[in-house]
This record gives sequence, C-alpha cells and structure tokens, in this order.
Amino acid sequence: MKSKTLEILKNCMKNKKAVGAFNTSNMEITQAIVMAADKLRTPCIVQTTVSTIDYSFDTIGDLVKSNIEKLGKNTQIGFHLDHGHSLHDIIKAIDLGVDSVMIDASRMSLEENIEITKKVVDYAHPKGVAVQAELGKVPYLGRESLDIDWEDVMTDPEESKMMVEKTGIDALAVAIGNAHGFFREKNEPDWKRLEKIKSLLPDTPLILHGASDWVNGRVVKAIERGICAFNIDTDTRVAFCGAICKITGGSHCEVSDSRKILKVAREDAQKAIERKIKMFDLKK
Ligand code: G3H
Ligand code: 13P
Ligand code: ZN
Repeated sequence: MKSKTLEILKNCMKNKKAVGAFNTSNMEITQAIVMAADKLRTPCIVQTTVSTIDYSFDTIGDLVKSNIEKLGKNTQIGFHLDHGHSLHDIIKAIDLGVDSVMIDASRMSLEENIEITKKVVDYAHPKGVAVQAELGKVPYLGRESLDIDWEDVMTDPEESKMMVEKTGIDALAVAIGNAHGFFREKNEPDWKRLEKIKSLLPDTPLILHGASDWVNGRVVKAIERGICAFNIDTDTRVAFCGAICKITGGSHCEVSDSRKILKVAREDAQKAIERKIKMFDLKK
C-alpha cells in the first residue's frame, strides 16, 4: 500500500519511535504543523475531521495538500481523516485526498464496529488508503458522564486481536486511560493492558488519542510499549486561540476552537465585501 501515513507509522513501529498526528481546521494551523515538521525535519501527520471539512466547504483537502507540497519538502507528511463515523464520511475524505482514514465506531457494539470497519477497509484499501479503527472508548468531555468507569471503557486486548483479524485494519486507537481534551484522565494509564495489546498485535501500529496533556515520562513509557502516534488537537487550539485573544486585548480566552472565532469573522468579512460589491456598478 502506498499510504504515506501508514509508511510513517510502520517506520515508527520498526524503530520504536512515535509521530505526532496534529488536527488542523484552517490554513494557519495547517501551515504551523507543516512548517514545524519541515523545520525539525521530522515526519508528521496532518489530520482533519468531518466538522472541519464542512466548515471549510470541502476545501480543506486541497489546502492541506498544497501546503504539504509547498512547505513540507524536507520531510514526510501524511494526511489523515480523524474520527470518521460512517462510510459516507470516509468516501468524502478520500475524495478530498487523505491517504489514511479513521473509522470511529467505538460507541457501537463490537459486532457493529467490526462490520462497519470491514466495509471501510474494503472500500479504502483498493484505493491505497490506510484504515485506523478504535476499540474501547476514549472519552470526550460533554459526551460521557464525568464519572468514568475506566474498566468499562478501556480496550479489551483479546477483542483488539479479533478486530484486526476480522477487518484487516492497519492501525488501532487504544483506550488505556487516555481521554480527549480537558477530560480528566485515569490517574495512571493501564500499562499492563497496553503491553498485552501489543503482545497480541506485534505488527499493528497503536495510536493514542487525547495526547495533548501527555507529558514526557508517560510519552516515553507509551512508546516503549508500542504507541506509534500521539493525537494532538487541544494543545494547538489553546495556543492558537490564546494568541488571537492576546493580540485582540483579551486577558482570558474562553474559546478554544478557532472555528468559533473565524466563522463569525468570515461572515462579517463577507457582509462587508457584499456591501462593497453592491455599491459598484456591475451588480446594478
Ligand atoms: O478528537 C477530535 C478532535 O478533537 C477534533 O474534533 O474537529 O470535530 O471539533 P472536531
Ligand atoms: P486532544 O484534543 O486531547 O489533543 O485529542 C486529540 C485527538 O485525539 C484527536 O483525535
Ligand atoms: Zn481522537
């Protein structure tokens, strides 16, 4: 398979290293990711979501691809769909040019998860696109109850082996006490569980979502036990929105999703432009 993302993940697995997989939602964040990777001459993965595809009116694919091409000449950069939820999402992202997709059916039953994931693999692989699935549930603030029963949401090692065998996925997102965003994580990740998953899946790159708040010690332990990629979104969002806030005079930034700021800015800019266009002769 010619997927750049998968090639990067496999190299990481072979060399016991890990790559950053960073979410983007606009041109500036895309450039920040690509220029950081290029400057450090280190591979990385740019990833986006369906909400960003919609927010960008389907233009994010071309934007990411052209920025990788123009600004990322000195390293290897993959382009991945993060948290697709249906075959429709996957088809759309592949049409926009990703070389890897995630089908996140983690909130479905194991059987349903396997069924939809297999459909995605059957669609993506002939197109040279790699597939990541999730087993167990990496919690989100606002989606789950605050009182997480970690035993209930973490990845079952035997099930993960079955998942890989039955679907042919290329990478697996694991839940070992990690959580998205500002959700409080398990005090100590379940390292034994991760070791067991890796021993059953020696050839499958394992992905850790919700890594914004993972610090050095934990990161090293995770890599030693088979994690090949860390997903980062919140850390970048907070830096980006914090900077906007700072230069616009705010002292504390309540918004950490730049789309919420830039969507309104885009709407107001469009209204201003429309006013000008209407003022000129051509419209009359
Ligand atoms: O895990 C998901 C990411 O944080 C991105 O979420 O782009 O759908 O808001 P979003
Ligand atoms: P954070 O927002 O916690 O960095 O998680 C990102 C992520 O997992 C994207 O899939
Ligand atoms: Zn995630």
